[in-house]
Amino acid sequence: MFQQFERLPPDSILGLMAQYRADAAPLKVDLGVGVYRDATGATPVLECVRQAEGLLLAEQTTKAYVAPAGRAEFNEAVEALVLGPDHPVRRERRARTVQAPGGCGALRLGAELIHLAAPAATVHVSDPTWGNHVPLLGGCGLRLDRYPYYEAAARRVRFDAMLERLDRASQGDVVLLHACCHNPTGADLPPAQWDQVIELLERRRLVPYLDLAYQGFGVDLERDAHGVRRVLARLPEALVAISFSKNLGLYRERVGALIVVSESPDRAEAVNSHVLKIARGIYSMPPDHGAAVAARVLTDAKLKAGWLTELEAMRVRIASMRTLLAAELRTATGGAGFDFIAGQHGMFSLLGITGEAVARLRERHHIYMTADSRVNLAGITPENARYVAAAVAAEHSGSA
Ligand code: LMR
Repeated sequence: MFQQFERLPPDSILGLMAQYRADAAPLKVDLGVGVYRDATGATPVLECVRQAEGLLLAEQTTKAYVAPAGRAEFNEAVEALVLGPDHPVRRERRARTVQAPGGCGALRLGAELIHLAAPAATVHVSDPTWGNHVPLLGGCGLRLDRYPYYEAAARRVRFDAMLERLDRASQGDVVLLHACCHNPTGADLPPAQWDQVIELLERRRLVPYLDLAYQGFGVDLERDAHGVRRVLARLPEALVAISFSKNLGLYRERVGALIVVSESPDRAEAVNSHVLKIARGIYSMPPDHGAAVAARVLTDAKLKAGWLTELEAMRVRIASMRTLLAAELRTATGGAGFDFIAGQHGMFSLLGITGEAVARLRERHHIYMTADSRVNLAGITPENARYVAAAVAAEHSGSA
């Protein structure tokens, strides 16, 4: 049965993690996988999470199953956080939320739902997009296509080309949109451009699928949800995949959710029954611990206040490392070519350097980033920023 299998090359992001760990150099810099790091390079457990875990451990009396939809209080808290307390789709009871095993689990659950409802639909993903979007959405048999989004060499969003391409999508197709902190580019749409995208989705009868993995890492919790809230206020049907890996630092606990919006409460109930059947057929029930922690933090006023402070500290640190790296690159290159890094959002930016330069940075300087030159700004520290900037300047100009 397995004779046909040759060993696959490593995953473009996870393979880098392993390479970095195996590198024995005393000075090495990990700008690869998207996890938050503090100024010492650690990815600590948030204090609000530690406290919530303590409370849960003391109180928990059973490990019996919860349900395929996960915890009701988690789903309720997620909906309020993402949509705001008074969003029309909540008032109209057109949204249903289910807990999922991480943002990836949510993305796959939504993809399976789309495939069940419209097997011939194409899902349009941004070019470039997060590498794992392709297997997560395409793996269940959906056809994928790409719309132009960002030109790394020119460091700009290709908004007109994006609209032009989506205007040619077929009615009923799905458009995957990064809700904030676009991965890998760090380039987000301003509100006026969101409105233009919404107008196009409405006019062409396209279904939005929003990936919200970084709420609170861009500007703040409210503004990072702006696009999602506006899209859902205008479109009859939509999906939103949510991750708490980054903003609650719950990476390995796999905490996510899928919100599906339908055109009426009855339809929402029907659709939800299919979502639950799909979940039952893949993993039966989502893991509970991380979602129990998240629900506790989101519903306990004191823990939530602590979380907001910690979340802001993460966001501010990343923003200040953006500023620092851009300034160091200005000095190292003698030009403003990398200034754009300071103005982008979330964990990532694309340096816009060649794959060869990326390889030299890894081999000669032990600086790790994905082959498309995506850097995780949380890997920058006041200690390594100058080293990284000097190496990038040397290897970039070496390839020019
Ligand atoms: C990333 O983009 O690096 C993260 O979202 C981690 C992952 O699973 O790829």
